Amino acid sequence: MEERNKTLGEFIIEKQEDFKYSSGELSRLINSIRLAAKVVNYKVNKAGLVDIIGKFGEQNIQGEDQQKLDVYANEIFMQTLINREIVCGIASEENDDFLTIEGNDGSHNNKYVVLIDPLDGSSNIDVNVSVGTIFSIYRRVTPVGTPVTLEDFLQPGVNQVAAGYVIYGTSTMLVYTTGNGVNGFTLNPAIGTFYLSHPNFMFPKDGNIYSINEGNYVHFPQGVKDYIKYCQLEEGDRPYTSRYIGSLVSDIHRNMIKGGIYIYPTSSKAPKGKLRLLYECNPMAFLAEQAGGKASDGFGRIMEIQPTELHQRVPFFCGSYNMVEKAEEFMAKYK
Ligand code: AHG
Ligand code: MN
Ligand code: MN
Ligand code: MN
Repeated sequence: MEERNKTLGEFIIEKQEDFKYSSGELSRLINSIRLAAKVVNYKVNKAGLVDIIGKFGEQNIQGEDQQKLDVYANEIFMQTLINREIVCGIASEENDDFLTIEGNDGSHNNKYVVLIDPLDGSSNIDVNVSVGTIFSIYRRVTPVGTPVTLEDFLQPGVNQVAAGYVIYGTSTMLVYTTGNGVNGFTLNPAIGTFYLSHPNFMFPKDGNIYSINEGNYVHFPQGVKDYIKYCQLEEGDRPYTSRYIGSLVSDIHRNMIKGGIYIYPTSSKAPKGKLRLLYECNPMAFLAEQAGGKASDGFGRIMEIQPTELHQRVPFFCGSYNMVEKAEEFMAKYK
């Protein structure tokens, strides 16, 4: 079959034997995410026509105003995974604590936990800019048959068995890795099927885009300020182009196609950074590394950080390998 005509469903079945533990459980899990993504996509595309735009009226544990679509996307992903009795636990940006999922018979026999940012870039919904979903999957570390514990969720990113994102953009795509490279699938909305459109997705080694919320410049650490000035200097292929959507999924997706660096540093306003290690940075770092890119907290590898809390924040430098390396050089001067 021509590679371009391959569906995500076919691809998942074909790749099942590549998984380290090929029980079919991880395939069923990715299939459930595919299904939930289609439901959320349907709703996102109707924003403006149905009452889905605007604030939900509550704050999440992160101190953020939840948008209606944050809550809706969270429910869809939770329900899809819970109904299929496919995972033993889920943690979400929108929930205070992790959820323990038991089978209908009260058992705890499933092996995987999912960590999810159900709707990324939710402040962009009202203005019709692309949003996304980010997911991260681990095998539990506690014994099968017992309820999950926090320990199952607080694993370093290097333990991920799969990770990916959905971008609800000009077209909707699902991009994921199970540790054998990255593949991207585009949804044909007419028939509701994802097709393999970006096989072996790779970050260009170098790039000329830098993505950072430069409005916070005065609050940034000196290493980041110096790196920004380096990006703006007229020399060689510089100055680089500045592109920042404010939606992590969209910013990383663009940079992965065109070559670029994304930075969300610490600042005097957000001393630990803003992005969440478990729901945002680790899955993006796994994808970036699998695509030949690099992900760092400015000083070291994101995926080697031992998490200490569910909603932990970290500074994030992610993108084309050489660009992240360069940014780290600037950071190292002020270590
Ligand atoms: P979320 O919508 O899941 O809470 O994530 C928001 C994040 C991320 O998508 C984006 O890159 C970043 O916040 C933007 O933050 P600033 O508005 O501070 O630049
Ligand atoms: Mn949020
Ligand atoms: Mn997010
Ligand atoms: Mn979110």
